[in-house]
Formats: sequence, C-alpha cells, structure tokens
Amino acid sequence: MRLLLLFFFLSLLFVLPVNATSRKTMLSGVHGDQRVMPKSCRACHRGMRMVIRNEEQTCLNCHGSPVKRQRMIAAGYLRDSGRLQLSNIESELRKPYNHPVLTVRGVHNKDEILPETIVNAARHSECVDCHEPHQVSAGRPLSGIPGKRVGNFTTDVTEEYQLCYKCHGNSANLPVDSSDKQLEFRPTNKSYHPIEAEGANAYVVSLKPPYVARKERPGDISIIKCTDCHGNDNTNGPKGPHGSIYRGLLVANYEMEDGRSESTYAYALCYRCHDRTSLLNDESFPYHSLHILGNRGKNLPGTSCFTCHDAHGSSSNPFLISFNPEVVEMNRDGKRQFKAQGVTTRHGSCALKCHGVEHEPKSY
Ligand code: HEC
Ligand code: HEC
Ligand code: HEC
Ligand code: HEC
Ligand code: HEC
Ligand code: HEC
Ligand code: HEC
Repeated sequence: MRLLLLFFFLSLLFVLPVNATSRKTMLSGVHGDQRVMPKSCRACHRGMRMVIRNEEQTCLNCHGSPVKRQRMIAAGYLRDSGRLQLSNIESELRKPYNHPVLTVRGVHNKDEILPETIVNAARHSECVDCHEPHQVSAGRPLSGIPGKRVGNFTTDVTEEYQLCYKCHGNSANLPVDSSDKQLEFRPTNKSYHPIEAEGANAYVVSLKPPYVARKERPGDISIIKCTDCHGNDNTNGPKGPHGSIYRGLLVANYEMEDGRSESTYAYALCYRCHDRTSLLNDESFPYHSLHILGNRGKNLPGTSCFTCHDAHGSSSNPFLISFNPEVVEMNRDGKRQFKAQGVTTRHGSCALKCHGVEHEPKSY
C-alpha cells in the first residue's frame, strides 16, 4: 500500500509542470487529502497554466456560500463524507469591518517581498497573502507562509504576529492614519500587551483566567495574540481576522469616544480579559471608577479607557498609559504627562487638563 502511494505521488510529479518550484509541487496538508479533494491540483488549477490571478474566487468556491460548495461537490472537486466543516469566509469578508480581500483583487504577486519598500505600492490582502494553499494543514492555517526577509533568507512564519507585521509593521506604504505595530509591541517598551513576550507588569490585578494576574512560577505565562482582539465578532463563527461587525475589526465592541456611559457593552473588548468589577472597585488605579463612570454630582461625564490607555503599547509610559490628545489637554504649565512611582507601588501623578479640571499635577 505504501509503495503504491509513493508510486502515485511520483507519477504525479512527472505529470506536473517541471518549472514549478519544489515547494509548490508538494501539496501537503488539508488540500492534499484526496479523500476530500479527489481531483487534487485541479480543484484550484484549471487548464495547463499554473498561474492563478484573483485566487479568492477559486478559494471561495469551497470556502464561500453553500451553493457554490454544492457545485464543487457536484463537479467532483470536493467530497463530503459527512465530516467536512467548511465555513463561509465570504460572508465574513462582507461584514462592515474587514480585510479588503473582496474589494482589492489581483494585486498580490507571488514573487513579492513584504514588508513593502515602495511608498506608493497598492495595499492589499488576498487569501494567499495569509494562507499558502499547498501547505495549510488542520489547525495550522498559516503554515508555509514566508516571513520577513532577513538578508538572503526568509523563514516561515511561526508566530501569527510575524504575518501581521508584514503589512502592519515597517511598511513603506502604510496609510497615513496607521502606525508601525511592531514598534508598539516591542518588548523593550515601557509597557505593551504581551504579544511577542510576557508583559512588563508582573501583577495585573484585574486579569481573568486563563491569564495569570500574578506571576509566581516560571511557567505562568500570559501571552495573547493579535487575533484575540482582532477577528470575528461571532465566537462560534470561523476564526481569523476576515471580518467583524465592530469597528477596528475588533472581536468585541470598544467605545473610544469621551463621554459615553459605562456598561459591559461599552468596553466589552477589555472586559473579555480584565475583570470589570476589579476595575470599577479601583483595585489598581484608585480613581478608575471616578474617571470611567464620571462624577454625577459635579456633572462630569465618564470617559473611555482609550482616553488614558493605548491598546497596543507605549514606548514612554508604564501601564499602557497614552493620553488621547483630543480629550486630554495640556495643563497651565504646558504639560501632558504621566509619572509612575514604579510598577509595584500603585502611586503616581498626572500633569494635564481634562474636562476643564487642572492637574498640576494630581497624585494618587
Ligand atoms: C487549494 C487550491 C490549490 C491547490 C489544491 C493547488 N494549488 Fe497550486 N496554487 C494555488 C494558488 C492560489 C496559487 C497562486 C499563489 C500565489 O499567487 O502566490 C498557486 C500557485 C501554484 C504554482 C506557481 C504558479 C506560478 O505562478 O508560477 C504552482 C507551480 C502550483 N501552484 C502547483 C500546484 C500543484 C502541482 C498542485 C497539486 C499537487 C497544486 N498547485 C494544488 C492554489 C492551489
Ligand atoms: C475544492 C475545495 C477547496 C478549495 C477550492 C479550497 N479549499 Fe481550503 N479547504 C478545503 C477543505 C476540504 C479543507 C479542510 C476542512 C476540514 O477539514 O473540515 C480546507 C481547509 C482550509 C483552511 C483551514 C486549515 C485549518 O483547518 O485551519 C484554510 C486556511 C484554507 N483551506 C484556505 C484556502 C485557500 C486560501 C484557498 C484558495 C487558494 C482554498 N482554501 C481553496 C477545500 C478547499
Ligand atoms: C498582506 C498584507 C496584510 C497582512 C498580512 C495583514 N493585513 Fe491587516 N490590513 C491589510 C490592509 C491592506 C488593510 C486595509 C487598511 C490598510 O491599508 O491598512 C488592513 C486592515 C487591518 C485592520 C484595520 C481594519 C479597520 O477596520 O480599521 C486591522 C485591525 C488589521 N488589518 C489587522 C491585521 C492582523 C491582526 C493581521 C495578522 C493576523 C493582519 N492584519 C495581516 C493588509 C494586511
Ligand atoms: C485577550 C486578552 C486581553 C484583552 C482583550 C485586553 N487585555 Fe489588557 N492585558 C492582558 C494581559 C495578558 C495583560 C498582562 C500583561 C503583563 O503581564 O504585563 C494585560 C495588561 C494590561 C494592562 C497593564 C499593562 C502594564 O504593563 O502594566 C493594561 C493597562 C491593560 N491590559 C489594558 C487593557 C485595555 C484598556 C483593554 C481594552 C482595550 C485590554 N487591556 C484588553 C490581556 C488582555
Ligand atoms: C488588547 C487588544 C488588542 C491587541 C492584542 C491588538 N490590537 Fe490592534 N487595535 C486594538 C484597538 C482597541 C484598536 C483601535 C484603537 C486604536 O487604533 O488604537 C486597534 C487598532 C489596530 C489597527 C488599526 C489602526 C492602525 O493603526 O492602523 C491595526 C492595523 C491593528 N490594530 C493591528 C494589530 C496587530 C497587527 C496586532 C498584533 C501584533 C494587534 N493589533 C493587537 C486592540 C488590540
Ligand atoms: C489578513 C490575513 C488573512 C486573509 C487575507 C485571509 N485570512 Fe483566513 N485566516 C487568517 C488567520 C490569522 C486565521 C487563523 C485564526 C486563528 O486560528 O485564530 C485564518 C483562518 C482561516 C480559516 C480557518 C477558519 C477556522 O474556523 O478555523 C479558513 C478556512 C480561512 N482562513 C480561509 C481564508 C480564505 C478562503 C481567504 C480569502 C477569501 C482568507 N482566509 C483570507 C488570516 C487571513
Ligand atoms: C483617567 C485615566 C484612566 C482611564 C479612563 C482608565 N484607566 Fe486604567 N489605569 C490608569 C492608571 C493611571 C493606571 C495605573 C495605576 C497604577 O499606578 O498601578 C491604570 C491601570 C490599569 C490596568 C492595570 C492594573 C489592573 O487593574 O489590572 C488595567 C488593566 C486598566 N487600567 C484597564 C482599564 C480599562 C479596561 C479602562 C476602561 C474601562 C481603564 N483602565 C480606564 C488610568 C486610567
């Protein structure tokens, strides 16, 4: 049986074009499983030329609407033995906040090297930018994607953030209102959400399980991924940053405006991992509740976490403090500044002006 299989694969190699890179003629992973994809290469490659443009339509034949999928089954490209779990990625991509897969097509070039070095190059994100169709394997959808080039070498992406940095890191063609995410998550920053490495703060009192609030043992790790915050709003739907009903392609709602009332919904994103009760009971910052809920007596509205915190990282401040200049003004001395007395003391001071209240500075 093994020999037979080997013979089969060898014969396949001869039938296929010789100019093809060995990497691509090797069809491994889920798409190589002929029990579900009996016609192998032909499910995606039609005709003699192997070049594929506008590949998303090819992918969505199976990963799109059930109607298209039925057609693929009828044509014998896909076999459903009852265990197939193909979801509709197309409907995800049609949600209001998405990766522009359906709107920007045919820009990807198989020989392109990212991050982009040409300033006016077209921004794009196609299926094959994030998935290598010859190598995706069960539970490893990023398998085989080349990472950033270092000298003459590119290694495969092993961590999800490496994929994201290819377009959201040091790219020459970043949109004007976007910034280099790799700088924001640098483990040498004063603070950062722990994507690349464990965080700078060993006791984040509000953290909910499975994350560990106080690190005691070396094995206690609290690492998160970009897609813990950016991805499908529907936790039961297909995973991945294809689309969301929430702004910022976020998995949950996050109000960033000043003056909104606090609720589980308003800051749902943060409350996924940080305990609302702990925060509003001022277990860390003694004036959290005052600022988040506002002060009815003085007729001062509450404000968003976004007014004081950056969700990615801060190169200059601990505790992800980064004041939103649209809300927080400079004080009389021309200062807009946070000073902490250390990560363990829970004391610090702020010099700024907010909602008309001078802090010159105010300490806690
Ligand atoms: C699940 C869909 C899918 C299957 C199955 C598949 N391919 Fe591909 N293949 C693609 C896509 C999409 C591209 C274009 C990739 C790009 O542009 O980066 C591609 C590109 C290629 C290329 C490079 C073509 C060029 O432009 O030079 C070769 C060679 C290739 N495939 C060979 C194969 C062989 C051989 C098989 C079967 C053993 C196979 N592929 C099976 C989707 C598929
Ligand atoms: C002929 C049908 C077909 C086509 C066309 C097709 N796929 Fe798939 N794909 C499958 C099947 C079957 C699976 C395995 C699903 C399962 O095990 O339930 C799969 C799984 C995947 C996975 C998930 C791996 C995992 O389990 O995490 C990704 C990612 C993927 N395909 C991307 C693509 C991309 C990108 C294209 C287009 C280049 C494409 N597919 C084209 C049938 C197809
Ligand atoms: C091949 C390039 C590419 C890759 C890889 C990529 N993106 Fe994007 N992303 C884009 C483009 C293009 C946009 C549209 C806006 C822009 O040009 O930045 C975008 C937009 C976004 C947005 C903003 C959506 C909005 O509504 O404001 C988020 C968030 C995002 N991407 C997160 C990620 C994450 C997380 C990853 C890694 C899992 C990732 N991206 C990988 C190209 C890419
Ligand atoms: C997916 C889980 C997750 C989500 C969602 C999340 N956090 Fe965190 N957060 C963490 C983890 C894990 C740490 C611990 C980092 C450490 O050990 O320093 C942390 C730490 C922090 C810290 C302390 C950082 C430091 O260095 O002192 C602040 C402030 C913070 N988060 C604010 C927020 C805000 C605001 C939101 C909503 C926009 C949010 N978090 C959403 C997981 C999350
Ligand atoms: C703790 C949650 C959280 C994590 C983790 C996170 N983000 Fe974000 N991200 C946000 C929030 C909230 C916003 C919207 C507010 C803002 O722009 O700061 C955002 C905005 C963005 C944007 C759109 C704004 C822009 O500057 O272009 C991109 C792109 C993005 N994130 C990429 C990433 C990437 C890449 C990663 C992983 C390396 C990541 N994010 C990890 C919460 C998160
Ligand atoms: C910007 C990058 C990006 C683009 C573009 C993209 N994906 Fe994904 N996709 C991901 C990531 C990241 C995951 C894995 C998320 C996880 O496992 O948490 C994923 C997961 C998947 C899965 C597995 C879903 C599940 O529930 O396990 C499928 C299938 C898939 N993608 C298909 C596609 C198809 C088809 C396209 C194009 C129409 C596409 N993707 C475009 C990043 C992308
Ligand atoms: C007025 C500014 C301000 C606002 C608004 C604010 N914070 Fe904070 N937050 C701080 C300061 C200052 C600290 C650091 C306290 C210390 O010295 O330990 C902090 C600490 C934290 C920490 C780390 C300690 C802990 O409790 O685990 C988290 C997490 C956090 N904030 C989350 C949030 C979330 C979520 C929101 C919105 C619901 C929010 N903050 C709103 C100023 C603010």
